[in-house]
Amino acid sequence: MPDDTMGGLSVRRERALAALADVPREPGAKKADPILVADDVKRQFGGLLAVDVDHVEIQRGSITALIGPNGAGKTTFFNLLTGFDRANNGSWSFNGRSLHGTPPYRVARIGMVRTFQLTKALSKLTVIENMRLGATGQRGESFWRAMFPALWRSQEDDITERAEDLLRRFKLDTKRDDFAGSLSGGQRKLLEMARALMVQPELVMLDEPMAGVNPALTESLLEHVKDLREQGMTVLFVEHDMDMVRDIADWVIVMGQGKILAEGPPEAVMSDHKVIDAYLGAHHDQSLAELEEQLEGGALAEEVAAELGQEGAAADDEAPTAKADTTPPGTTEDEAPTTTEGDGAQTADVTAEAAGAARNNGDDKGGR
Ligand SMILES: Nc1ncnc2c1ncn2[C@@H]1O[C@H](COP(=O)(O)OP(=O)(O)OP(=O)(O)O)[C@@H](O)[C@H]1O
Ligand SMILES: [Mg+2]
Repeated sequence: MPDDTMGGLSVRRERALAALADVPREPGAKKADPILVADDVKRQFGGLLAVDVDHVEIQRGSITALIGPNGAGKTTFFNLLTGFDRANNGSWSFNGRSLHGTPPYRVARIGMVRTFQLTKALSKLTVIENMRLGATGQRGESFWRAMFPALWRSQEDDITERAEDLLRRFKLDTKRDDFAGSLSGGQRKLLEMARALMVQPELVMLDEPMAGVNPALTESLLEHVKDLREQGMTVLFVEHDMDMVRDIADWVIVMGQGKILAEGPPEAVMSDHKVIDAYLGAHHDQSLAELEEQLEGGALAEEVAAELGQEGAAADDEAPTAKADTTPPGTTEDEAPTTTEGDGAQTADVTAEAAGAARNNGDDKGGR
């Protein structure tokens, strides 16, 4: 794919930004050309309303980041949209076609695929076998297979060829016949992304593509995600790494406690008080500069420690945590964001990363 650029930005990115330029920066904002539209989507787990989305639209041809603290409902929302879980309520459509009740393989077949926060590569199959499985149901039914074996064979050849092309693109061709289980965490993420592309999707949904990825591979993963847009695909990705969001997202949607809290371009969203609240709790009266000063002076950390101390919650061997007030029940303690390690050199909006840092670190351990 030629990398056409205009003033440093690719033509595709320029186009995506232009399409989003006049979109109001508010939750549920209407887009000029949405590929995905969801209305009143709810998912309840016992007493917990994990997803409660009134309205959301995803602009075609853009890279949209879905961010929010641990337990915000991002993965559950992905599961509902792609048919891996059942909503209690709601409707959503892809290219104007209702997807409610559509099973995952059919959702993928009509052009909407997703990857998983915890990779789902089948470890006892080889890399190429995993890729071929990604094409399952692409075309051809058993009837046609029986009637026209030659047709079927040519389809098999096409699938293998496409798989090998993708493996080359993702630099996994040397691993073609290795078991997926022998790949590193980062390579598994690459395999999952490559496998998702086997159905030639229009919308690619990535759940924490960078989590557990060795830093040596992150740059290449970033480029692959950007490349999806260059090839005309729409990307919706969940990510806790705010640098990545800033770097590649054209638009950001923020979830908290199951709801869409904010939308807008990355810089605007990350300095939005509602967003900082969702990650950090009640510090909404302060300007970012004040918050930054406090972090540099360690005042916020002290305040948090004091709060925890008052509650008698700070065990000697535990780092004090600044778990957001908004963190829903069910989020485990080891996923709680910490602010005590705040680096004075960081800008305040980076504090939002605190929520995800703990989780990503955890994934890192598992992924390598
Ligand atoms: N199968 C389930 N049964 C019960 N509760 C669940 C289930 N799946 C998710 N939850 C709860 O729903 C809430 C939303 O979880 P979800 O995994 O969607 O959050 P998330 O935004 O993806 O978080 P993270 O950033 O940690 O991945 C959490 O409180 C979680 O504990
Ligand atoms: Mg998740």
